[in-house]
Amino acid sequence: MKLLSSNTAIQDIQSAACFVFAYSDKAATSITNIDTTTDRQLSGYIDSGVVSTKVADVTPIVGLKGIGFSTLYVIGCGDSAVFKENVLLKVVTAMSATIKRAGLGDIHIALDDLQVVGRNVHWVTQKVIERLITGFYQYDTTKSTKNKELSLELVTFLSAESGLQLAIDNGRCIGHGINIARELGNLPANICTPTYLGEQALALDVAFPEISSSVIDESELEAMGMGCFMSVSRGSVQPGKLIVMHYQGDNSGSKPHVIVGKGITFDTGGISLKPGAGMDEMKYDMGGAASVLGTMTAIAELKPTINVIGVIAAAENMPAGNATKPGDVVTSLSGKTVEICNTDAEGRLVLADALTYVERFDPETVIDIATLTGAVVVALGHHPTAVYANDDALQQAILSAGIAAWDRGWPMPLWDDYREEIDTPYADLANISNVGRSGGSITAAMFLAQFAEKFTWAHLDIAGTAWRNKKEGASGRPVGMLTQYLLDRSL
Ligand code: BES
Ligand code: MN
Ligand code: ZN
Repeated sequence: MKLLSSNTAIQDIQSAACFVFAYSDKAATSITNIDTTTDRQLSGYIDSGVVSTKVADVTPIVGLKGIGFSTLYVIGCGDSAVFKENVLLKVVTAMSATIKRAGLGDIHIALDDLQVVGRNVHWVTQKVIERLITGFYQYDTTKSTKNKELSLELVTFLSAESGLQLAIDNGRCIGHGINIARELGNLPANICTPTYLGEQALALDVAFPEISSSVIDESELEAMGMGCFMSVSRGSVQPGKLIVMHYQGDNSGSKPHVIVGKGITFDTGGISLKPGAGMDEMKYDMGGAASVLGTMTAIAELKPTINVIGVIAAAENMPAGNATKPGDVVTSLSGKTVEICNTDAEGRLVLADALTYVERFDPETVIDIATLTGAVVVALGHHPTAVYANDDALQQAILSAGIAAWDRGWPMPLWDDYREEIDTPYADLANISNVGRSGGSITAAMFLAQFAEKFTWAHLDIAGTAWRNKKEGASGRPVGMLTQYLLDRSL
């Protein structure tokens, strides 16, 4: 799919299809321009209600005399005063659906019509492209009947603004990264194993000269002393992997930003077995890992001047004869001992050792991303990602990147008040709270914080945002937030 921008006037173009936008309270630029050569017919349709201005309503107009487009698709945008981010997304979703349904191959979009309150044309361009691309994604990998291939080959954005190339590239690459994360999330756990995730990382190494990847096997992890990681992985016949991807975009010796993803490719709970109902959704428990692969892909395509290391702690959490039992005590890579009171609190265990592992990179910042707790869904629902940090500036930077990318987070506390809730008489730390379920997302973050004392660190609990339900599938979040954060930090 080719993406272009053009500042040719809409009345001067001969082509198949153009998307224009109609507000209930004012005439958009393109409508006014089209009116000049069509005897005000289009405004007439809108004023009389023949063409709806209701948000996301699509009205095709075929063969309007006086313009060069065979079909105009008019999409309703509602009241211009409240045309905000979420309304734009509804409009773009309607546009992708129309493109798919009508099998369009070549479209123009009257971009300057889309005036989102508080956002400029670059932001709108980037967002429209990202959402068009994610709007075309449909899972069919494990279905015998495949979806129709996307017919769209050429999109031309009509705008008076010329320098839109950067926004176009950002939107395209971030959209692609999001789709990669969604596909990995949606794949079943019998395909998307730790080994499979490792293969994806090695494929990035082959595809991009800026990326070099390595996959560390269990024997080495065991020998290294990753007792927490191995306590999760040991019960599975699928071998666990620690996956490391280096993106080198800056040769001036700047310290790397590290992103660490929880890659539990299936979470049965282990010996602390989860109930059967809905357990299939635990295939999404590698959403953090998926977001790392999606972000690394977007970064490798955009090639910002920055160094980034993507790490994935990949394992399957299974019950078995040799699986960890509640009450077992293990020694982490850091040397701290952990009593595993509940084998279903496994994400924090694999991440604890991965966090200690990344100390060797002398990182500028470290962000881990994990579908860590059911409790965060109780706290925040499915809208924001929970953002924890041991540094206020980093927390703020991530929240700002989330607002910029419209992939938002919400700040959560890491007060030392919570620390004693993970005390145990039998080890340095317990892997679950000793006060029950209250504040479960926070005590999980507090556990991770004990392994992130040596660097500037943030933790994103994405259990509410990586997917909402099976029907919608994996969301690809927070690839947008992470990529924006890294772009903000590039030179
Ligand atoms: N992967 C789950 C968290 C989860 C649950 C994500 C539901 C999305 C939806 C995690 O490994 C887990 O099982 N956490 C436990 C922690 C508890 C044992 C302290 C949880 O949230 O119940
Ligand atoms: Mn679990
Ligand atoms: Zn889990």
